[in-house]
Amino acid sequence: MNISIHKVVAVSNKKNSIYLCNNKNATSVLPFSTAEKTYIKQEIEKKEKKLIGINRFTHRVFLQVVEEKKETHLLLESCRKSGAVLCAMLNELKETSVTIVDTNNNGEEALAFAEGMALANYQFLQYKMQKTRNPNSLNKINIHSNKVNNGAINELQIMIAGTIAARDLVNETPAVLTATKFSKEMTRLGKEAGFTLDIFTKSKIESLKMGGLLAVNKGSNEPPTFNVLEWKPKNAKNKKPYVLVGKGVVYDTGGYNIKVGVGMETMKCDMAGGAAVTGALFTIAKAKLNVHVIGLIPATDNRIDGKAYVAGDVITISNGKTVEVLNTDAEGRLILADALVYAQKYKPELVIDLATLTGAAVAAVGPYGIVAMGTADEKTKNKLKESGNNVYERLAEMPFWEEYDELIKSDIAEIKNIGGPYAGAITAGKFLQHFVDYPWMHFDIAGPAFLSTKDSYRGKGGTGYGVRLLFDFFKKISN
Ligand code: BES
Ligand code: ZN
Ligand code: ZN
Repeated sequence: MNISIHKVVAVSNKKNSIYLCNNKNATSVLPFSTAEKTYIKQEIEKKEKKLIGINRFTHRVFLQVVEEKKETHLLLESCRKSGAVLCAMLNELKETSVTIVDTNNNGEEALAFAEGMALANYQFLQYKMQKTRNPNSLNKINIHSNKVNNGAINELQIMIAGTIAARDLVNETPAVLTATKFSKEMTRLGKEAGFTLDIFTKSKIESLKMGGLLAVNKGSNEPPTFNVLEWKPKNAKNKKPYVLVGKGVVYDTGGYNIKVGVGMETMKCDMAGGAAVTGALFTIAKAKLNVHVIGLIPATDNRIDGKAYVAGDVITISNGKTVEVLNTDAEGRLILADALVYAQKYKPELVIDLATLTGAAVAAVGPYGIVAMGTADEKTKNKLKESGNNVYERLAEMPFWEEYDELIKSDIAEIKNIGGPYAGAITAGKFLQHFVDYPWMHFDIAGPAFLSTKDSYRGKGGTGYGVRLLFDFFKKISN
């Protein structure tokens, strides 16, 4: 159920509410009776409870003691998580709305709490039958705070909508979400938000000699697409565009280096980078940010067929560079190579690619963050890291030493598509570096893009990872 968020100037004493407070004001300023206050005090002091609920029969009043944290971004993350807990509780009670009361007079806390609630309320119910569907009842959040204005609420709603759009794309099933369908979904979202989309079909991709995308697509019954998304406002702050590149492997079987065991079952998520770029463009356009941004999404599945590419093939990327394919499961870098070459024609300010690229990135940081590397300057990297912290999609920067370049040299072509047994996330990044001639960052989101076990407001399945980070980053540039 989608949630609408509103600013209210009064708190009804007949409706559900949640008071955000701290240890000091919990029992003083709030509208509770003496008996209730005694109960609250006991719960907080003796039982160390942070969330206390009082049943007033027609409605409930909750009290959330906001945890003390040393840094703002940790505090905000704890608010999002608390919001997710309350969300589950209200849905369990079949409640439809709640008012967040910002007793601490800290707008950011109230917004983060609402964010956690709204994101936790997400469900992917497409394939549930009517009788077991059980959609969440919660559909409205009110915020009562002097520190929160309608502009901030609007931006929050846009960020949530972009994240949900990306989650829906990732969660859609492989038989449905072909490359062509993925492009159609981008068109729909572009119309809704205001960004434009240019879809290159197979013949155009052939004329551009995108040998990486075409090689991966050879085993497929479905044609590839190459998608150019653009948001170009008249008063853009930047002369040179920012370019976002997203891996759009709509399903990754591994190809002839087929994934065995549990490797394949989650591979509908292999277009999560493309989904994040789509979601980011959605937020940027919908919020009408003053920044010129282009999204590039090469899309195909990676499958087995008599015509499929095999280990041992040598292919040529659109800039003429030859690649020895030694593993058909390292396909993401091949299609990204063509997209990164295409980005060169824009002479971009910065390019960021997002991809579920390597199992090595999962091994390195698990689901807790993004494995990042690249050639952007320190100032840009720091801004990105700051945005990552703000929204808690954190960046873990890897070394990018030239020694790693040795690991992908090929005997018969310029480079090969796999490195050695270690530093797999870095050698994948090093591969991509061969196709960039501009400031660039590579975000490997293989760890957090798709979760098999629930993680608070991120839920299970597609998380929409990357959308909130990019929206935060571009908001700062736009302002
Ligand atoms: N799509 C996978 C990476 C992946 C793994 C994404 C786990 C999400 C979760 C990618 O195409 C892949 O298979 N990479 C190989 C590369 C290897 C053959 C060099 C890998 O990481 O095992
Ligand atoms: Zn693969
Ligand atoms: Zn893949």
